[in-house]
Amino acid sequence: MECQDWPEPVIRVQALAQSGINKIPERFVKPESVRPVVHKKPPVDHHDDINIPLIDLKGLPEKEAARLVGEACREWGFFQVVNHGVREELMRKAREVWREFFMQPLEEKEKYANSPTTYEGYGSRLGVKKGAILDWSDYFFLHYTPLSLRNQAKWPSLPPSLRKVINEYGEEVVKLGGRILKLLSLNLGLQEDFLMKAFGGEEGVGACLRVNYYPSCPQPDLTLGLSSHSDPGGMTILLPDDHVSGLQVRRADDWITVKPVPGAFIINMGDQIQVLSNAIFKSIEHRVIVNSNKDRVSLAFFYNPKSDLLIQPAKELVTEDRPSLYPPMTFDEYRLYIRTKGPSGKSQVESLNNSSSSSSSSKSP
Ligand code: OGA
Ligand code: NI
Repeated sequence: MECQDWPEPVIRVQALAQSGINKIPERFVKPESVRPVVHKKPPVDHHDDINIPLIDLKGLPEKEAARLVGEACREWGFFQVVNHGVREELMRKAREVWREFFMQPLEEKEKYANSPTTYEGYGSRLGVKKGAILDWSDYFFLHYTPLSLRNQAKWPSLPPSLRKVINEYGEEVVKLGGRILKLLSLNLGLQEDFLMKAFGGEEGVGACLRVNYYPSCPQPDLTLGLSSHSDPGGMTILLPDDHVSGLQVRRADDWITVKPVPGAFIINMGDQIQVLSNAIFKSIEHRVIVNSNKDRVSLAFFYNPKSDLLIQPAKELVTEDRPSLYPPMTFDEYRLYIRTKGPSGKSQVESLNNSSSSSSSSKSP
């Protein structure tokens, strides 16, 4: 076992779920205030028919696409997109190979066990704090770009098609990411390549994949598949499971359950885009709920800025009325800063903001 670098033994949630327990261990029981069903509001206020915006890119003129994407990211920080250019066949295969990976015996998966220094490989929780309350999920994390970090020897060798499928899938999803960056730049009234340049150009972008596996859970009301968090990076392109929902997006005091549209990706803004846009685009809190009879697989593709570039609000978006809300910081620094904390709502980007609202970054070099 390679898990000895963790501060305590790692619990594989999938193995736990398969052991046939009917009560979840104490370590997974969330405080009442964050459990999935806490807001027992009168039905007047229900949001069953509210969903994040759905954007169909088919045949849309660029200007119109930029307007729709921009609007969604200002208002929600989240949208679903169809006719996005990624082949449905690849989406289906990508889900399938990862489901097959997780269905293998534990010993096979343990060959890829991750460590706290890289996070690459098979893992079972976020954060390294001893005694933390755990999430009901396992995951696999890998680097796709820059090429210097793509190490296929660390990707699962089984099922045999996995590496090839993920290579092809990544290529198309990275293209989609570039296209969305362009639309976002246009919507901010900036040069169309503004965000791509801020991310370090096509060669600089740091793309990685986190495949989440959420086993079914005997007491879904007491725990979460993934605790509330905002994504620290640039933007996330999520391929949700096609037969069960679970992702919830925060809307004021409510949690909206996203109903995935067939063939769609769910895209959300991360903290770095919130910083670059000086908070015009929002990186919104989200979490995952689990259920008692279905497991769920999701592929979260993180499209991040080159990790050693300073990220700060675009100078065109800093005015006297709207001063810079964030100090310059590299994504590497930001990641270090939050990794010690584990998933913790929006506290990270917000705390940057509180400590710096007067120190405008507009005069930095
Ligand atoms: C994530 C995430 C959502 C999901 O991996 O950051 O928010 O539906 N995943 O799995
Ligand atoms: Ni997330």
